[in-house]
Amino acid sequence: MPVLDVDDLTMYYEIPFRGFVRAVDGISFSLEKGESLGIVGESGCGKSSLAITLMRLLPKNARIIKGRVILDGINIYELPEDRLRKEIRWKRISMVFQGAMNALHPIIKVGDQIVEAIMLHEDVSKEEAWKRAGDLLELVGIDRSRLDNYPFEFSGGMRQRAMIAMALALNPDVLLADEPTTALDVIVQAQILKLIKDLQRKFGISLILISHDVSVIAEMSDKVAVMYAGKFQEFGSAFDVFLNPLHPYTKGLLSGVPSVKGKPRRLKSIPGAPPNLLNPPKGCRFAPRCPFAKEKCFEEEPDLVEIEDKHYVRCHFAEELREVPWDVSE
Ligand SMILES: Nc1ncnc2c1ncn2[C@@H]1O[C@H](COP(=O)(O)OP(=O)(O)OP(=O)(O)O)[C@@H](O)[C@H]1O
Ligand code: SF4
Ligand SMILES: [Mg+2]
Repeated sequence: MPVLDVDDLTMYYEIPFRGFVRAVDGISFSLEKGESLGIVGESGCGKSSLAITLMRLLPKNARIIKGRVILDGINIYELPEDRLRKEIRWKRISMVFQGAMNALHPIIKVGDQIVEAIMLHEDVSKEEAWKRAGDLLELVGIDRSRLDNYPFEFSGGMRQRAMIAMALALNPDVLLADEPTTALDVIVQAQILKLIKDLQRKFGISLILISHDVSVIAEMSDKVAVMYAGKFQEFGSAFDVFLNPLHPYTKGLLSGVPSVKGKPRRLKSIPGAPPNLLNPPKGCRFAPRCPFAKEKCFEEEPDLVEIEDKHYVRCHFAEELREVPWDVSE
């Protein structure tokens, strides 16, 4: 049985008098123990919205339209909020939020913040929680003597490590990391990613890593979902999606990634911007930006179809375009 099984998950934000923002629109996937899923897509495509929907940590205007999130055999949308808080959130599924680096309380010692997170969920003494907080800091490569520091005494990378320590405090089965390294320089970014990977392996955690950075996702993931306008457009093993991309959007994303090896080539971007999800385009949501769009694309929405073994693509013409590279004049 997969650790996490998500089926047709659909969450819209309601905007009074204007309608619904279709941020998470029919997402399905499953995740095995110890497996990592990378979710990549441009800004505004619904990645963070999907993450908070998986945690059931939704703002007031969020509406679950349909779908299920089954975690360790339990549908989290059928649990009352108090059970979810006590038994599921942080204990079985936990999250490092986008911009988490700045989420530590500025005038409370780092140690006290980790202790509070532990004691909120577990019936342990303050001494025991403090010892565990020290173990957790050491786990993420920070000396336990720094428990007495305030967040401003930590570097950005250390604050991010502390947030990862907090997310792991209750030994979750699933860790969601939403852009965990975006604000960091490349050296620290590489260290944090390695830390996440090492901890994931050590504890057999199932990881969902969200990033707009294709190279981060390629390095870290077993499976990859390419998200655009609230939907998965391509889904499969990292190998298939990155070495044999079949959706024009994936090809476009990859054309913007510099390669260190191989012949130098001109980087190409995807013209335009993702659509407003209050009123997404009819038919294929990528059609207004797709250089291969035909009439049918503007009329009929493509399904996510298994084109090869466990390699899914949402494009009417994926087969025909198989060998066609992304090429747009800029
Ligand atoms: N509370 C909200 N109410 C209404 N719309 C929202 C709300 N939160 C997010 N949105 C909208 O939902 C869409 C998806 O946003 P989301 O933050 O999930 O994107 P993202 O892929 O995480 O982007 P980024 O890479 O910039 O973090 C956007 O159009 C955004 O404006
Ligand atoms: S369905 Fe049409 S518009 Fe959409 S990605 Fe495929 S070719 Fe492009
Ligand atoms: Mg986001």
